[in-house]
Amino acid sequence: MTDMSAPPPISILSADEAERRTAELAALLHACVHAGANINFVMPFPMADAEAFWRKRVLPAMRDGVRMLWVAEERGGIVGSVQLHTDTPPNQPHRAEVTKLLVHPDFRRRGIAKALMRELEHRAAALGRSLITLDTRTGDFAEPLYASLGYLTVGTIPGYCLDPFEEKLHPTTIMYKTL
Ligand SMILES: CC(C)(COP(=O)(O)OP(=O)(O)OC[C@H]1O[C@@H](n2cnc3c(N)ncnc32)[C@H](O)[C@@H]1OP(=O)(O)O)[C@@H](O)C(=O)NCCC(=O)NCCS
Repeated sequence: MTDMSAPPPISILSADEAERRTAELAALLHACVHAGANINFVMPFPMADAEAFWRKRVLPAMRDGVRMLWVAEERGGIVGSVQLHTDTPPNQPHRAEVTKLLVHPDFRRRGIAKALMRELEHRAAALGRSLITLDTRTGDFAEPLYASLGYLTVGTIPGYCLDPFEEKLHPTTIMYKTL
């Protein structure tokens, strides 16, 4: 029987696997945005837009070898994901950026995000990517999560992004960690 208190296993997906599982990845993104996540999208956000994100923005970068994708799976379904961008300029070969850390609303507070980030950091370090940068909406749950993993706050940028549901701007917090 699955231990529902322990985080599920984390694996890295190839571009082919990600393509095959685009519908599942789209469902995860769609659920998170509709639950209020501020991760670039605003309402209305139909499933077709979620699928287009994976097909147009993520899969080509994965095929180009400049983006890596980890997923957490529970009973064969994807319940969490995170991406690492390694498409940095020639003077930043040691840096990489984390984006779209997502955990399905039904599977939160079980340590899945932390487990995804641990795997990502492990691989980033092995690739010589010793500086990890990211930004997250100021005040979101992701902020204490990243802080608990050792990410330091550089500062906040006011009026950075739109709220997904209303005409209102939010600040973003810039964070980094040296591995
Ligand atoms: C942020 C998010 C990824 C956290 O996923 P999660 O699997 O629930 O996180 P974890 O269980 O690994 O929690 C790790 C820590 O984060 C913090 N945290 C996460 N959710 C929290 C909440 N609802 N309230 C307070 N702290 C929270 C806590 O410090 C927690 O540690 P603890 O459980 O030991 O107290 C998830 O809420 C999510 O997908 N949010 C929407 C998308 C998003 O904002 N992503 C970040 C983009 S940069």
